[in-house]
Amino acid sequence: MRQFDPTSLKRAAIAFGAALGALGVAGPAGAQENGSGDVTFNRDVMPILQAKCQECHQEGSIAPMSLLTYRDAYRWASGIREKVSNRVMPPWHLDPTVGIQEFRNDRSLSGAEIETIVAWIDGGRVEGDPADLPPPVEFPDPNEWRLLDEFGEPDLVIASEPFTLEAETMDKWWRPVTPTGITEPRWVKAIEIRPAGNDGRTITHHVLAFLQQNEEESPMSARIVEASTRGGAMGGPDLFMEWAVGKEGEIFPEGAGKIMLPGSQIRWEVHLHAMGERVEDSYVELGVWFYPRGEEPRNRTRLMIYNATGRTGLDIPPGEIAVTQDFHTLRWPARLENFQPHMHMRGKAMSLEAIYPDGRKELINQVDNFQWNWHINYIYEEDAAPLLPAGTTLVITAWHDNTAENPNNPDHEQWVGYGDRTVDEMAHLWVDVTYLDPAEFEALVAAREEARRAAEAATNNSNH
Ligand code: HEC
Repeated sequence: MRQFDPTSLKRAAIAFGAALGALGVAGPAGAQENGSGDVTFNRDVMPILQAKCQECHQEGSIAPMSLLTYRDAYRWASGIREKVSNRVMPPWHLDPTVGIQEFRNDRSLSGAEIETIVAWIDGGRVEGDPADLPPPVEFPDPNEWRLLDEFGEPDLVIASEPFTLEAETMDKWWRPVTPTGITEPRWVKAIEIRPAGNDGRTITHHVLAFLQQNEEESPMSARIVEASTRGGAMGGPDLFMEWAVGKEGEIFPEGAGKIMLPGSQIRWEVHLHAMGERVEDSYVELGVWFYPRGEEPRNRTRLMIYNATGRTGLDIPPGEIAVTQDFHTLRWPARLENFQPHMHMRGKAMSLEAIYPDGRKELINQVDNFQWNWHINYIYEEDAAPLLPAGTTLVITAWHDNTAENPNNPDHEQWVGYGDRTVDEMAHLWVDVTYLDPAEFEALVAAREEARRAAEAATNNSNH
């Protein structure tokens, strides 16, 4: 990467370019060549901010500042440089060098994008030719359901009780319970959560909606119970959906879904973060789209908690990096739909490996840059989601950093154990597991193998 030394000469060139920009005149190419190299804000950086930052970094969204203009980015440059080069922003803390990399909600920056941003800052934050500036992005109306176009209005909308948050206060967790009002079992095709009411979006950091119901009455309960209870894994209360800013609704793959039963209720967990103004009567709501009656999916998706701590417990000595590990064996063939590590302030990294029945071992994914205040759900592309045969052992490994080096560590002289408070610890993975009928599992594996061969053949042909 090139290093530039910002000089007063260059600052003059920038001011000159900006003045031309204000007049709507394209600056002479020489103004850029003269000391600032080829990276400009208008041509190179703005498209990245539009695609990867602005959804959160705009007025009324969750981030503390806007990144909509050259001026914004110029002002925040040193913070941006730090957060993008250490992969804290955009919030996507997965190790990009190992495991599956095809995700439906990927908002990470590529290595080249990070280099572009850093080169722009180190090169003197050149604005560039106004003609290169892309038009502003129109973000979707945050008051509309994201899935409206695809599915229409939801079949069922469940709203939480309203909450009020003071202008300045510690983070709050709001946990009301709302009956779903369902009177017959219904299969769910898609779900979406959105903050609503007064300024709900500005203070709602993330939302979990748990579905509480009597699982013994559920169809496929034998498969689910057998699959869920062996090997130390726990199911439920089902996490129905997790929401954070930037998240689309969730659509279950062909032939799979969640089920809602009569008597069920939603237990909300809304993480609120004060933004300097008192907000009254805000609430969150959950939209549910059902499969038509009689059109039932063959497979059920269920949220599982895979603990890293089952056998050994969690016992983190002061001043040390502790490793905790546990194993869970799948009793049914399964497709893992997502990967979401959960730890607290000392959380450092978590990995998921599969040991196949034939002994082959594969690192499925790893978060190597865990940030405790972000709950990121890494949702696999349907054709990349791990397909695992019955008898596969999942290995969950968690690393906690209880040293003084960890900037989030409130006290590195404490022993730390398991608990709810953020100063206590946890170590588990949330995974939406679709338990597959064995014949369907074989068919999915065969189809994927065929697609892989076809793609390979296509590349070989194009190489000739
Ligand atoms: C999903 C929403 C989201 C996205 C996408 C996002 N940010 Fe952020 N950003 C936040 C929030 C919320 C904070 C404040 C809390 C925190 O730091 O975790 C923040 C904080 C920051 C900060 C630190 C601000 C300070 O007060 O020091 C910088 C710099 C930043 N973001 C830059 C970026 C850049 C650059 C991008 C895109 C490449 C980006 N962010 C993408 C939500 C987001």
